[in-house]
Amino acid sequence: MNKILIIGSGGREHALAWKLKQSPRVGKIFVAPGNAGTAELGENVNIKPTDILALADWAQKNKIDFTVVGPDDSLALGIVDEFQKRDLKIWGPSKQAAQIEASKAFAKKLMKDNNIPTAEYQTFSDYHQALKYLENKGAPIVIKASGLALGKGVSVCQTLDEAKKFLQDVMVNKIFGDAGNEVVIEEFLQGPEFSIHAFSDGKTFQLLPPSQDHKPVFNEGKGPNTGGMGTIAPLPWVDQKLMDEVSSTIVKPALDGLKNLDSPFVGLLYPGLMLTKDGPKVIEFNSRFGDPETQSYMRLLDSDLFDILEACVNGNLADIKIEWAKKYACCIVLASGGYPGNYEKGLPITGIDEAEKMDDVVVFHAGTKTSDDGKLLTNGGRILGVTAVADDLQSALNKAYEAVKLIKFEGMHYRTDIGLKSLLNTKNTKLRNQLV
Ligand code: AMP
Ligand code: GLY
Repeated sequence: MNKILIIGSGGREHALAWKLKQSPRVGKIFVAPGNAGTAELGENVNIKPTDILALADWAQKNKIDFTVVGPDDSLALGIVDEFQKRDLKIWGPSKQAAQIEASKAFAKKLMKDNNIPTAEYQTFSDYHQALKYLENKGAPIVIKASGLALGKGVSVCQTLDEAKKFLQDVMVNKIFGDAGNEVVIEEFLQGPEFSIHAFSDGKTFQLLPPSQDHKPVFNEGKGPNTGGMGTIAPLPWVDQKLMDEVSSTIVKPALDGLKNLDSPFVGLLYPGLMLTKDGPKVIEFNSRFGDPETQSYMRLLDSDLFDILEACVNGNLADIKIEWAKKYACCIVLASGGYPGNYEKGLPITGIDEAEKMDDVVVFHAGTKTSDDGKLLTNGGRILGVTAVADDLQSALNKAYEAVKLIKFEGMHYRTDIGLKSLLNTKNTKLRNQLV
């Protein structure tokens, strides 16, 4: 039996722990730092995901057999390299390979060098040159702080004034600190967005079903971007032909490109894509599982997750057949009042047990904690992910939204239109049958 350590504390990590727990090869699960949900599946360890030396020390001392990394910042800091140095098995890309997410300038160059379709762009480390380029290009235009900025370093600017202000904030006022030392300024693209995930062992890869996150906080895509307000998988309007195109024009050249730089990617590559009128284009690359995508994915995965992750690390992913339920899953995120801005913490949550009594409903925790007297409390911006599975997307969404009605905490808010656009696009059952 393998002793597992999962790094992170979100819905993604709870979903991974939930799935790993089902493996006959997995023994005790530790989650650092975890949440109230992961504490029910295993044991939480109070170490931050960014404290990679303390995590490696702890894993060594506690004889962990296999570590799974959730968040991007641990990867960007080189957690995988640190564990490998100590002969500890760990799933995730090296610091070098994780640059595909940690540095947008690196990712754009990789795409350019490997002819991967993406928005036209230029990279700047000089504010005045960036400003001149901006004035030349005009709006709409997109500005991205190159480094990691908690998902907030991107501004889609509709006017030149807006763009100039954001550029100044990033490069002069340093609102994202060093993440703004370099900026990428790129062409504004249009089209529906979707998420592709690929397991990779550094030599071969296997795609997960297509999925879609809903990043803006309010219905119809209004309001500021969040870490993700809900997902569906598979995506009914992404057919096998489009998946093949993404595989050959985006995933394969990106992984080959990294291999050619002597930094093969082991773990999960997640390109965020836009389906433009000229075909799929990359908006960004992530070097880890998406959240809340993972909450939907884990509900559909029939195979043993531990076998897959181990095969990535051992370099024999080609020998593994990954099975997915021929169903639809969705995840509705319940967020704190005020999120993604300021919000209160420590508010009591009720109704999860009732919700989970419903068939095919599982509630994953994100920002939750248990009080000293055993009460479940809010402890973050995104609090819970309510997931459901069904034979068709409409039924999955109906179930999840029914379950959502049973859960309460003060200020709770959620989008009521997760998957709606896809549903309207997909009364076509023939298309549905072609899905991966
Ligand atoms: P990112 O953090 O790179 O995923 O960007 C956040 C969001 O900004 C994306 O989900 C898109 O909605 C939007 N975005 C990023 N780049 C572009 C682009 N080149 N054109 C239009 N929208 C973009
Ligand atoms: N689904 C958004 C993210 O994980 O970055």
